[in-house]
Amino acid sequence: MAIRKIITPPNPLLRQPSLKVAEVDDTIRQLIRDMFDTMYDAPGIGLAAVQVGEPLAVIVMDTANGEKGEAPRPLALVNPEVVWASEKKATWQEGCLSVPEIYDEVERPAEVRVRYLDENGQEQERHFTGLDAICVQHEIDHTKGILFIDHLSRLKRERYLKKVIKKAQQTAA
Ligand code: NI
Repeated sequence: MAIRKIITPPNPLLRQPSLKVAEVDDTIRQLIRDMFDTMYDAPGIGLAAVQVGEPLAVIVMDTANGEKGEAPRPLALVNPEVVWASEKKATWQEGCLSVPEIYDEVERPAEVRVRYLDENGQEQERHFTGLDAICVQHEIDHTKGILFIDHLSRLKRERYLKKVIKKAQQTAA
């Protein structure tokens, strides 16, 4: 079990597009295990590798609600890519482990189809709906250097960033 440190703004890595993974090997599988450990510990429902300081196109998610007695459904996606998005939009309250204590509503396509490599390097395609669709889009955004607050007005984004950076400085002091 290895819990990694989650980075926050103004760390420039969060703005850097992640590199595609050339081969899903044991190093990548170890990274995926560490990411699950870190995500469940936080706790959160999704995490991108760049958030633990590894700018590689790897994301993990698990939207099961343990409090409602749902069994875990961990999912790891390597080199994920949206290949189809619905016209229909959905608005959800989002948060992010790299933007702690900030929550706001974001509008995104309600359903998406995503192509990716699984933990064995096999190509997969999966249709996402509901919270899963929102979560997978949020995490894919991270692989492009995009944060959920980028979908909000500039005024809100700057206010939230200021708050996060100030809080991090206070914690470090
Ligand atoms: Ni996030």
